Amino acid sequence: MDLESTVAQHYARESLEHTILAALAVMGKDVEHLAPEDLAPVDEFHIGGRAATRDLADAMRLAPGMALLDIGCGLGGAARFFAGERGCRVTGLDLTEDYVRCATALARRVGLGGQTAFHQGSALDLPFAEASFDAATLLHVGMNIADKARLFAEARRVLRPSGVFGLYDVMREGEGDLAFPVPWAEGAATSFVEGADTYRRLLEAAGFAVEAVRSRRAFAIAFFQRMRVAAADAGGPSPLGLHLLMGETAPLKARAMIGNLEAGLIAPTEIIARAV
Ligand SMILES: C[S@@+](CC[C@H](N)C(=O)[O-])C[C@H]1O[C@@H](n2cnc3c(N)ncnc32)[C@H](O)[C@@H]1O
Repeated sequence: MDLESTVAQHYARESLEHTILAALAVMGKDVEHLAPEDLAPVDEFHIGGRAATRDLADAMRLAPGMALLDIGCGLGGAARFFAGERGCRVTGLDLTEDYVRCATALARRVGLGGQTAFHQGSALDLPFAEASFDAATLLHVGMNIADKARLFAEARRVLRPSGVFGLYDVMREGEGDLAFPVPWAEGAATSFVEGADTYRRLLEAAGFAVEAVRSRRAFAIAFFQRMRVAAADAGGPSPLGLHLLMGETAPLKARAMIGNLEAGLIAPTEIIARAV
């Protein structure tokens, strides 16, 4: 099986919309009248959830009317935030068919179907014409992509000159073997975590000027501490959470990722780059 098929299979989950609505119902939500915020515990599949998405949008200075491409959009939580809270016209693209289907259904449910569109496809072969977008985002996707030179070349191709590219990936901070499984990979064969310096070099080679690089290590550690306290106070995890996406090995994946973070091996890192 090729890399992209293996990655898509890693994330694939049938009946996701149904699973999410069932969890919301258990929590007492009226599933016929959902707000985008109700979905945030499950539709932001990256460290720091909605807060991290808001920080990235602020750093990118997203503005109403911008055409934005969210590469590797997952269930579309960030895409709906950029549309609903920042007024962007958002296109989401993801390898995993189940996610694309669910992203489309959830956007309709929260009244954002008109400002968002979701497509299945590869980040390495974007099905869009050159200079189609004012902005592009990549949240926790690069760890699944070996060929980052091609990823960034594709992002540059579809952006207009001066377009902004906001990245928020897990990046390498220290030497040493990573513990697996992690949320993005069962093992080292499908994990391509690189340092911010490598990202910078490859972004510049693809035609970007890197404007800012920010390790979010302290933010991530504080986020996981808050989650631990919340779960202890509630007597266990909420029915709605990322465990619905990570399957039975969710606790193992979370533990290994937090261990790698606390050991100083990795940290989520934000990069703002501008198409030149
Ligand atoms: C950890 S999830 C993050 C999803 C979303 N960006 C978010 O933050 O909620 C990683 C996503 O990247 C997608 N992905 C991985 N490799 C990809 C590729 N080559 N092209 C498009 N999407 C890809 C996966 O299908 C998955 O939805």
